[in-house]
Amino acid sequence: MSAIQDILALKEEHRATILAHNYQMPEVQDVADLVGDSLELSRAAARLDAEVIVFCGVDFMAETAAILSPSKKVVLPEKGAWCPMAHMISPEQLRDLKALHPEAAVVCYVNSTAEIKAESDVCCTSANGVQVVSSLSEKEVIFVPDRNLAAYVARHTDKKIIPWNGYCYVHDHMTAEQVRAARAEHPLAEVLVHPECRPEVIDEADFTYSTAGMGRHAKASTAREFIIGTEVGMIHRLKKDNPGKEFYPLTSDAICHNMKKTDLYKILRALQTLEPQVTVPEEIAGKARRSIERMLAVKV
Ligand code: 13P
Ligand code: SF4
Repeated sequence: MSAIQDILALKEEHRATILAHNYQMPEVQDVADLVGDSLELSRAAARLDAEVIVFCGVDFMAETAAILSPSKKVVLPEKGAWCPMAHMISPEQLRDLKALHPEAAVVCYVNSTAEIKAESDVCCTSANGVQVVSSLSEKEVIFVPDRNLAAYVARHTDKKIIPWNGYCYVHDHMTAEQVRAARAEHPLAEVLVHPECRPEVIDEADFTYSTAGMGRHAKASTAREFIIGTEVGMIHRLKKDNPGKEFYPLTSDAICHNMKKTDLYKILRALQTLEPQVTVPEEIAGKARRSIERMLAVKV
């Protein structure tokens, strides 16, 4: 039997669901039950009727699934798949920032540790950051850890945003000059970038979306060509969903190495052993759950 057949058989046996982020390797996306952005995957984790969730993504995503579904086994096939940005702020640093701004609400990007979510009032993703922040009654908002998403939210709300200086190395490396060069090469293409990009890159692009938003835009648009300013894994998803349209990465070195650590053999091993399991102690999970559920209640 092939690895794929073994995975499908074990999935059935364990009543498991495989969730994969849009940045996963093509063969991982193709074996998953659901491929999506962080918001779609959080929503799925909350409503799924499965005993086991195999999360093909990075640490904070599996933690979010474990927080939302404490009765399910959540397995991260590659234990060392982590998001560097999520670890750019510690709970102590956030507590110090809160002490400096006692009137401010605290919003954390979902790319954060469970401890940071537990210290926050509400969580958000790149798909709903503007709506989450706009829904708050406070005028001042501490926004951690991504400085670029914080700047994007600041531009699209009337709140005073107090950002943390974290960033995603994959998106923060993209430049406005790369956008101009890609446009010169593909003059008919629309340029879609992620809000984790720097403000000057966003200014140079046509549209800014989460990865799921890019997918919806590409389907609805009459354009035939697109320049994609996010991690290169997204290109597979876009091509698969839009035959006949062309997708060019803004830069081919936009690779999240942690997202690429998961492969079919690690998924197979995870289904055989139901390890490595991700768990969050209830004293942290309980508080973190409140900020995630508050986010999920915001209409987008
Ligand atoms: P979205 O898929 O939610 O847009 O997030 C991008 C990302 O960097 C996840 O780590
Ligand atoms: Fe983290 Fe960036 Fe990788 Fe997303 S793409 S998991 S934000 S390092």
